[in-house]
Amino acid sequence: MAELVGAVGTSHIPAVGVAIDKGRTEEPYWAPYFAKLPPLREWIAGVSPDVCIVVYNDHANAFSLEIIPTFALGTAERFAIADEGFGRRPVPQVIGHPELAWHLGESLILDEFDMTLVQEMEVDHGLTVPLSVAFGQPAAWPCKVIPLAVNVVQYPPPTGNRCYRLGQAIRRAIDSYPGDERVVVFGTGGLSHQLQAQRAGLINAEWDAHFLDTLVHDPEAATRITHLEYLREAGSEGIELVMWLIMRGAMNPQVKEIYRATHVPTSNTHNGVLVLENA
Ligand code: DHB
Ligand code: FE
Repeated sequence: MAELVGAVGTSHIPAVGVAIDKGRTEEPYWAPYFAKLPPLREWIAGVSPDVCIVVYNDHANAFSLEIIPTFALGTAERFAIADEGFGRRPVPQVIGHPELAWHLGESLILDEFDMTLVQEMEVDHGLTVPLSVAFGQPAAWPCKVIPLAVNVVQYPPPTGNRCYRLGQAIRRAIDSYPGDERVVVFGTGGLSHQLQAQRAGLINAEWDAHFLDTLVHDPEAATRITHLEYLREAGSEGIELVMWLIMRGAMNPQVKEIYRATHVPTSNTHNGVLVLENA
């Protein structure tokens, strides 16, 4: 059987990708953040996943307002890197795992989650930056990647509770897959940030710390955080945090927190990193 060997939460700030791509990680602005990544990178190299299921959101690159799937599962052999207006990031192609992805699709849909199955999709910073955060700059990504895109861009996004239940269903699918793949689930986006309007620049480190504590130790309580609370406390883009609930739902109710770090400043976002293993 496939095995879920752990989970990662990380922000997906585009400027972090630029800092890596342009060799700026040692510069004074960036060095303190990148100094916090070795425990994550050492952990993931150690667990050596065959596949990462990366829960992320597309930022109007693969999908436009014409088509907005709530939950889109990438079943393709490979996923091209999106050009978000500054050229494609110079990162390796993302290689999928169609067999496990179709198993996930079948298992989730028969488990009553109405997934959109996507056979062709470009992936943006929401997916590529977390890979860079975890793996640095390899010639090829060290694992296959199954993208799971969640709509958090166009109202209404799914609830945190729905996301958590989807995570639990993903776990049932992993546990029923007749392969010996080692799987890591990523939840990406967040922590608090707001990129627009009067509260642009909002960061709420206190609420973020409370969110992470609740997510780790009392995930059922985290499922009850309303959209209004995310918006009020974590800013308009803080709603990305519902994707961390999918990652958490895939894990056991009891987890070990292997590593946590947060950092400011990195662009406009309270930058968070979390590593969990099943207890
Ligand atoms: C930033 C953060 C995001 O999550 C995003 O999608 C775009 C920009 C930022 O902090 O700059
Ligand atoms: Fe984002």
